[in-house]
Amino acid sequence: MRKKIVAGNWKCNTTVQEGVELAKSVSELVAKSGVKNVVVVLGTPFTHITSVVNTVDTKLVGVAAQNCAAEAKGAFTGEVSATMVKSTGAEYVILGHSERREYYGETSETLNKKVTLALANGLTPIYCCGEALSIREANEQNTYVKNQLDETIFNLSAEDFSKLAIAYEPIWAIGTGVTASTAQAQEMLAYIRGLIADKFGKVVAEETSILYGGSCNAKNAPELFSQPDIDGGLIGGASLKAEDFLGIITAY
Ligand code: PGA
Repeated sequence: MRKKIVAGNWKCNTTVQEGVELAKSVSELVAKSGVKNVVVVLGTPFTHITSVVNTVDTKLVGVAAQNCAAEAKGAFTGEVSATMVKSTGAEYVILGHSERREYYGETSETLNKKVTLALANGLTPIYCCGEALSIREANEQNTYVKNQLDETIFNLSAEDFSKLAIAYEPIWAIGTGVTASTAQAQEMLAYIRGLIADKFGKVVAEETSILYGGSCNAKNAPELFSQPDIDGGLIGGASLKAEDFLGIITAY
């Protein structure tokens, strides 16, 4: 059965010390809650990863980077490679987040390189897709998301594809307090699963974890997570407080 995943995306928030405290609280709360059916992941800044890996109970909480370099190594000042991420003990990497696409010019071409390097280094990509408000208003979200997938992860072999998770995050719902309605989220995730089935077959589609992201919180998570195609969430703001995040983890 496909995994249910609740992944926090801390973005550019917290000092190392604050991050370690937050990770410690999450790990303790997850242990206390006895939750076993959900994979919990903390997407921290690069600077925090090693400390967070050493803080959490890694049997209960996994750690993700929020990006990795499009090159394996070399003269790329300021970049952090997939190999480096892997060497911290992180197991996941969030790739293609809309903020990276929008503010840092990430294209399908760069993302293909990043996904390939992440997979080659044994990291699990959490690959993000999702449309802007203008595209949703024009009712072109399906074509837009299909293109995002066609240009990137749909070029992988079925074997590689089956190693990643997808997060659908409509840009208009990120950090805005406007969540996609349960019906909108379910409809898009079912659509994505259908595309995967067409491309890689039904078995792969049924095994792929597809997450929803965008103003997901402890209040709306139970309804969102009750949907057949919603396999968890990628959580920004609500992942910065351990109790709020636990409320989402225990929403199943
Ligand atoms: P949000 O962010 O939960 O704060 O809307 C989600 C994300 O960008 O991953």
